[in-house]
Amino acid sequence: MSNSQLDLESLIVDIPDYPEPGVVFKDITPLLGDPQGLAAAVDRIAEHFKDAGVTKVVGAEARGFMVGAPVAYKLGAGFVPARKPGKLPREVVCETYALEYGTDELQIHADALTPDDVVLLVDDLVATGGTAVAQVKLVEKFGARMAGLGFLMELEFLHPREVIAQATDADMFSLVQVK
Ligand code: PRP
Ligand code: ADE
Repeated sequence: MSNSQLDLESLIVDIPDYPEPGVVFKDITPLLGDPQGLAAAVDRIAEHFKDAGVTKVVGAEARGFMVGAPVAYKLGAGFVPARKPGKLPREVVCETYALEYGTDELQIHADALTPDDVVLLVDDLVATGGTAVAQVKLVEKFGARMAGLGFLMELEFLHPREVIAQATDADMFSLVQVK
């Protein structure tokens, strides 16, 4: 089967009531562990943004690293980790954000981006859009340009597209949509 025909949704497993009651957790580890699934996911996101002039992919800890770094490699771009507090050793730029469950903060090294950079945000999943908007705000603090946002999975029922559209008009692309 070619990459373009593989059903990625069948490789993502629903875990009801995790990490708290009422949340259906989308477990992407079967997709990551499947050689064809991982290749198809990375290839399809990279293909969508191949002409966007991306110089840096930004990915949020931890699952954004797993998808973002191979997409950066495929695009010939650099990778910038957006990490949770206390993990980066040098001067950082920070932004707090809300999750489907809880709140958190993301940090990027203060010299990781320049105004010349064209940035693609990549994550495994977008739910409320809070993590993505925090990263858009971080990118803006550097004066860099947003090329787009790419996700394996979009929880459409939480309306992240509307939330993200208030922060950026960059192209948002997802491989699997959950209604
Ligand atoms: C998950 C996921 C996204 C974010 C999406 O990460 O990988 O980064 O939540 O949620 P949102 O659209 O509501 O902001 P999480 O913060 O659970 O961290 P992890 O990657 O370390 O598991
Ligand atoms: N991050 C935020 N909401 C999530 C969900 N429902 N499944 C997996 N990761 C998530």
